[in-house]
Amino acid sequence: MSLLDDIEPLKQAALAELKASADLPGLDQAKGAWLGPNGKFTAQMKQLGALPKEERPAAGKLINQARVELEAALAERRGELELKAAVPKDPTDFTLPGRRRLVGKLHPLTQVTEDIARSFRKIGFAVADGPEVETDYYCFDALNTPADHPARDAQDTFYVNGTDGLLLRTHTSSVQIRVMKKQAPPVRIIVPGRVYRRDTPDATHNPTFHQIEGLYVDRQVTVGDLKGTVEFVFRQLLGEETKIRFRPHYFSYTEPSFEIDFSNALTRKMGKEWLEIAGCGMVHPQVFENVGYDPEIWTGWAFGFGIERIAMIRYGINDIRLFYENDLRFLRQF
Ligand code: DAH
Repeated sequence: MSLLDDIEPLKQAALAELKASADLPGLDQAKGAWLGPNGKFTAQMKQLGALPKEERPAAGKLINQARVELEAALAERRGELELKAAVPKDPTDFTLPGRRRLVGKLHPLTQVTEDIARSFRKIGFAVADGPEVETDYYCFDALNTPADHPARDAQDTFYVNGTDGLLLRTHTSSVQIRVMKKQAPPVRIIVPGRVYRRDTPDATHNPTFHQIEGLYVDRQVTVGDLKGTVEFVFRQLLGEETKIRFRPHYFSYTEPSFEIDFSNALTRKMGKEWLEIAGCGMVHPQVFENVGYDPEIWTGWAFGFGIERIAMIRYGINDIRLFYENDLRFLRQF
């Protein structure tokens, strides 16, 4: 009878220990101590064989019931402890503000470029592109800039060592030639892009900067078309009250040539009535000859200006180098 009497207290002791396990390793240990191959409860079952034959069925039944109960208690405690282990140690404070993902922005020079391109698209211009590593033919010769012209001075131009006349373009005007050689007139393009000059960096100079070139070729194009277009775009860009004026100038690829000044609240804030902003003119007949357009039929205008200069005036930036340092404290302001 002693075995039968032992089962119930043994079971109670096992249940108490399983339920008291504080963590999963503790539970596994308790499981081993009671139900493992050498466990105390397992030992009990092994004694069944030693019982008199008539006592065995009742004892076996009792032991099995107890075992089922222990397994159930084990599974339940395991569930509880697993849940406990999965909960983070530091509770979540749902009242804290959420983590914000930083939203990127376009660089101020890109924003200005896109604004200019948008204005020109409204009046039918397309954006064209060309290489930054150019030949002296596209950058100078075809633009009617003779070999002894100061613009070709080695002081101003980066030449690529060990090549025959390869250079970094000093202006986007080279793309005028590339486009006209590829397509028949009429032409209506703007060319935003990076250009290079051998300048020492200071507040208003940098060896790389950006320009926008414009080219319009059709029949009977006049200086009036040029002025009207420039005025439209600069008013879109710098405000409706912006005034522009043309001053005679010299460029080898236009005749006549002009410099464009503008005037508005921004220039007055800088203490000036007029500020120089761009170069332009009527496409030189020699340039048309060079690309195979008949200058008796075709006429056109071209202009070029620096994007940095526009952005600096527009945003009141006093040092061009700020554009290239990529300091987020600067860039976040735009
Ligand atoms: N290429 C000139 C420069 O870099 C700007 C320019 C002037 C472009 C007159 C033109 C133009 O197309 O007609 O300073």
